[in-house]
Amino acid sequence: MKPTQASFPATRLRRTRRTPAIRALVAETALSPADLIWPVFVREGEGIEDPVPSMPGVVRRSVDRVVEAAREAADLGIPAICLFPYTEADKRTADCAEAWNPDNLSNRATRAIKQAVPEMAVMTDVALDPYSDTGHDGFVREGEIVNDETVAALVRQALAQAEAGVDIIGPSDMMDGRIGAIRAALEDAGHGDVLLLSYAAKYASAFYGPFRDAVGAAGALKGDKKTYQMDPANTDEALRCVGRDLAEGADMIMVKPGMPYLDICRRVKEAFAAPTFAYQVSGEYAMIQAAVQNGWLDRDRAMLESLMAFKRAGCDGILTYFAPAAARLMTGTR
Ligand code: PBG
Repeated sequence: MKPTQASFPATRLRRTRRTPAIRALVAETALSPADLIWPVFVREGEGIEDPVPSMPGVVRRSVDRVVEAAREAADLGIPAICLFPYTEADKRTADCAEAWNPDNLSNRATRAIKQAVPEMAVMTDVALDPYSDTGHDGFVREGEIVNDETVAALVRQALAQAEAGVDIIGPSDMMDGRIGAIRAALEDAGHGDVLLLSYAAKYASAFYGPFRDAVGAAGALKGDKKTYQMDPANTDEALRCVGRDLAEGADMIMVKPGMPYLDICRRVKEAFAAPTFAYQVSGEYAMIQAAVQNGWLDRDRAMLESLMAFKRAGCDGILTYFAPAAARLMTGTR
C-alpha cells in the first residue's frame, strides 16, 4: 500500500510533530509496563542483594528479596518475572540432577512468589547450564552436546517447575524436539494450563557474556554454543524454528538477542501472528549502562527508546533488566 500524499506545501509532515499533544495523537506505537517481563537472578541466603559487576544496577537476590522484587513489580504493573538461579559450585554436576530437584533455588523462589504475590506470572528457564559442570545447556558426551538425552532431562526439569507452580516455562536450550516433549509431558501430568514461551530463535551471541557472569557459568563454559544456538548470519532458519515450535505446542515465542535482531522480530511477527517477545539481553543492557556511567548517554531516554524499538518491530513484549526502572518512569513513580 502506497500512502497518498500531496506535495509541499499541502503536505508539511512537521505539522504532526509540532506539539506534545499532537505527537501523542499520531503515535503509532505505545509502550507500557504491561509489555515487560523482568528477568531476576536468584541466589542462596537471606536478606542478600549482591551486585553483578558487569551489569550495573542488577543484583542477585536471595529468595526473600526476590519476593519483595515481585511485589514491587506487581505494584508497577509489570505482569511477569523470570527467574534465573545462580547455582552454587557444589550443585553443578555431570548429571545435572539439581535441575529437577523440587527444592532447588528456582522452585523455592517460584513457590515463595506464588504464595506472597499470586497475581504475578512466574516464568522459569529450562536448560541445563545452571546445573552442569560444563556450562552447556545440554549433556556433553565425547565433546558433543547430545540432543535426545538432554531433552529427556529438560522434561524432568520442566515438570518440577510446573509442580512448583510456574505460569510460564521458557525453554532456552535450543535442543530439537523439546517443545513437543515438554508439552506432551505437561498434558500427561495434568499441567495443561502451563504456558510455553519458547526461546525459538536464539542466536549464538556475544551479547550473553554478562549473563554468564551473573549465573556463574562464564568460568565453566568450554567452547561455544554454536552447534545448538543459531548462526547470526541466518534469518530464514529463524522462521523454521518458530514454525516448528508453534506446531509442537509453544504458546508464545521469543527472539534473542533483541536489538541486533529486530529484523527477525518483524519477520516472525508477520509470518506467524503469534505472541512474539524479544529478550533485550545482558550485553545490550550492559552497553547502555556503560555509556550512561561514562556520561555518554541519557539513561532514561536510551532505555525507553530501546524498548519502544521492540514494540515498533512488532513485538508484544520485552524481557528486560530495565523493567522496574522503565515502569517507574512510565508510571511517574520514581
Ligand atoms: C541459558 C540462557 C542464557 C541466557 C538466558 N538463558 C545464556 C546462554 O545461552 O548462554 C542469556 C540472557 C542474557 O544474556 O541476558 N540457557
